[in-house]
Amino acid sequence: MSNTQKTLSIIKPDAVQRNLTEEIKSIFKKNDFEITSEKKIKISKEEAEKFYIVHQTKPFYEDLCNYLSSGPIVVMILSKENAVLANRELMGATNPEDAKEGTIRKKYGLSIDKNSVHGSDSEENAKKEIDFFFNN
Ligand code: CDP
Ligand code: MG
Repeated sequence: MSNTQKTLSIIKPDAVQRNLTEEIKSIFKKNDFEITSEKKIKISKEEAEKFYIVHQTKPFYEDLCNYLSSGPIVVMILSKENAVLANRELMGATNPEDAKEGTIRKKYGLSIDKNSVHGSDSEENAKKEIDFFFNN
């Protein structure tokens, strides 16, 4: 049975700043993701805090929100069979040092905080995150 899903992807400030947007988009396309919506935006710290609210008790929350709001980001809706998991696999581990060869974070990530991309971690969160950026 087919299970086409949508997931939210963000190209984070470190990658946008290094002009990696087109390269990263081409990786998604090569891996059969369809980019159904896309926009380049800069969010406020308050918006970043809302987006990452699940991490509000973590020691890295403040830095993370400052970082995500520090420069332009590219937010995209990716569509594919089992897109949520497929994107997590293509992104690689949170810490680029632990990410597998061939993953986006292994290739482009600079550090655990500047790890170049975000991807929704469940179908439920994908829906919430897509709503957050596209349905308002
Ligand atoms: O992005 P991912 O779902 O892989 O990781 P997360 O655990 O949901 O953390 C969200 C983001 O917080 C990461 O992508 C990192 O940018 C950042 N983070 C950090 O700066 N330091 C950590 N120890 C863990 C995460
Ligand atoms: Mg996460």
